[in-house]
Amino acid sequence: NKNPMQDNHGRAHNYLRISITEHCNLRCTYCMPAEGIALTPRAHLMTAEEIVTIAQTFVKLGVNKIRLTGGEPLVRKDAKNIIAELGKLGVELTLTTNGILVHDFIDTFKEAGITTLNVSIDSLKQDKFNEITRRNYFEKVIENIGLLEENGFKVKLNVVVIKGFNDNEIVDFIELTKERNIQIRFIEFMPFDGNRWNKEKLVSYAEILSQANDFYGEDNVNRLQDRPNDTSKNHKIESYKGSFSVISSVTNPFCSTCNRIRLTADGKLKNCLFSNTETSLLDTLRAGDSIEPLIFQNIKSKFAMRGGMDDDAKFQDPLLFSKNRSMIKIGG
Ligand code: GTP
Ligand code: 5AD
Ligand code: SF4
Repeated sequence: NKNPMQDNHGRAHNYLRISITEHCNLRCTYCMPAEGIALTPRAHLMTAEEIVTIAQTFVKLGVNKIRLTGGEPLVRKDAKNIIAELGKLGVELTLTTNGILVHDFIDTFKEAGITTLNVSIDSLKQDKFNEITRRNYFEKVIENIGLLEENGFKVKLNVVVIKGFNDNEIVDFIELTKERNIQIRFIEFMPFDGNRWNKEKLVSYAEILSQANDFYGEDNVNRLQDRPNDTSKNHKIESYKGSFSVISSVTNPFCSTCNRIRLTADGKLKNCLFSNTETSLLDTLRAGDSIEPLIFQNIKSKFAMRGGMDDDAKFQDPLLFSKNRSMIKIGG
């Protein structure tokens, strides 16, 4: 009996990422174009009820992990309600957030059974943080990361590394793991529509690791075992409490173990971060028809690697990657 959530490359999809809003209280340069983006009219976005209904279908089909993304998920007015309802599904629930509104959600997270959160923070210097986010929330984010730790949440910090911008902070970030049991995840900068990506701005896994090796000495940088569907290559400095990792989508893609499927805020199923094959589940749900055949079909059409941009030349071709959505409308 073949699992219908399995694609033609043998990958079973049990991790659903749901973007619940296209809005954000930051304007990160690598995430959205300077001129902004055309937002989807509200009537074409999923309501809280529709999100829960679609999520229930996925859980029935074998999804055992749901991550809420955005834009910034916590800016959505009914975010608390959505989190509470999804918490009842009995699967692992988590979020990727910029941290700004976290203080208002501590109880909501606990009641929904959330135990781990990923927080995006690209610089430990206030002026740099403000420069990349085009807003002024550095202190709030730092404070809220501390608040999550105090409340017993496991915290991962996402750091998009950009050459000449924050690649001189790699050791500073790793130093945070000396006394704190947090995980720093350095992310290779990826190309999306309107984010002015170019190869020169990329800081590779190899470069990040070599900075760590140079500073700590190779013998003190331990390679940890990764979990089966990890996006990250995990490492730890000997005797430090936390760990650090690299998400190497560009130089060492992890597509062969991909178990992810994405639902955009406008109710479209997207089988890969880099694929623009999208299937509207929302239209079908609203028409009163079953969404299951569409889900299976969408998963079956998944490319082996990076939405078909398998070699570097394709991946780095703006003509190809600019056909994709901007990151803010995907959710990471
Ligand atoms: P965990 O569940 O904690 O492993 O988190 P995650 O890595 O799945 O999610 P998160 O939202 O924190 O994303 C961190 C980085 O990984 C972002 O830059 C994402 O765009 C990237 N990422 C997440 N999923 C995928 C994926 O399926 N493919 C690729 N190439 N990158 C991904
Ligand atoms: N390349 C790599 N990571 C990105 N993110 C957003 N845009 C990019 C990009 N162009 C990250 C955010 C967030 C996660 C969901 O995706 O920093 O942590
Ligand atoms: Fe920045 Fe995240 Fe908002 Fe994008 S979604 S602008 S990365 S905070």
